[in-house]
Amino acid sequence: MPEADKEGERYSADIPQKAPGFFLKGSHQYDWGLKNRLARTFNPQSGRTVMLAIDHGYIAGPTSGLERIDLSIVPLLPSCDALFCTRGILRSVIPAESQKPMVLRASGGANVLREDMSDEEIGMDMDDAVRLNACGVGIQVYIGSEFETRNVHNMTKLVDAGIRTGMPVMGITAVGKNMKRDAQYFRLSCRILAELGATYVKTYYVEEGFETVTSSCPVPIVMAGGKKLPELDALTMAYNAIQQGASGVDMGRNIFQSDAPQAMITAVAAVVHQNLKPKEAYDLFRSLKTNK
Ligand code: R5P
Repeated sequence: MPEADKEGERYSADIPQKAPGFFLKGSHQYDWGLKNRLARTFNPQSGRTVMLAIDHGYIAGPTSGLERIDLSIVPLLPSCDALFCTRGILRSVIPAESQKPMVLRASGGANVLREDMSDEEIGMDMDDAVRLNACGVGIQVYIGSEFETRNVHNMTKLVDAGIRTGMPVMGITAVGKNMKRDAQYFRLSCRILAELGATYVKTYYVEEGFETVTSSCPVPIVMAGGKKLPELDALTMAYNAIQQGASGVDMGRNIFQSDAPQAMITAVAAVVHQNLKPKEAYDLFRSLKTNK
């Protein structure tokens, strides 16, 4: 008889990593300013965040749903915990009166016209993130790509600047077209980003073994949404990610490309902060959509 597969047991996904004196995994030994920025981005009561990702224009131009951010996204601001955007959109469109924490896309250089989009550079100075009163910066790293070493150095330079200024750095596990999106790959890339100093990591959900991705990453993970799915599927994915150890979501298209973005972000927030089950969250979405 073959031996039972015990690999999953080594991750002890059911035993939370301790963070004495602070609510967020892996973040209890930072200085006050960095912790304060994290406590504005992640809700200290639930320990989770609903970050609304609208940075797509930096590689894709006026993405469907983001043609007029002033009209489509600004009204959603009260319903998210944080916004992930570029400094260009922040300065030109997002009202400075907003009390929402802003996490800024800090890389650039490639775009959708290129075959390989991993050829990126740092796209903004940390000085400017501080000037903009940001609560974090985000940068992606394509582990396994041709430009991996440069991607890694881009992130570690931001981490050094983030430690100097108290600015969290969100490391994003970007995936090349030919890479396999499975738990083994995301365990590898999330752990590498955390070991190299990312304050938290944004990654994609996988059906099999996502709890091993979250449990082997010593810092919080937020789930990226990916391509637009039917609303029930997107809510199910968010629910599963949260139940399997994610500390929130950083979703874009599944919110702003929905027929009813306000209803969708409210339903996502109920999944993230109140553990609402997918079917109940979908019912909430449908009733809010009907009553809008
Ligand atoms: C990631 O690096 C992208 O720029 C987006 O922020 C990310 O993909 C999340 O958006 P979506 O949920 O649409 O995939």
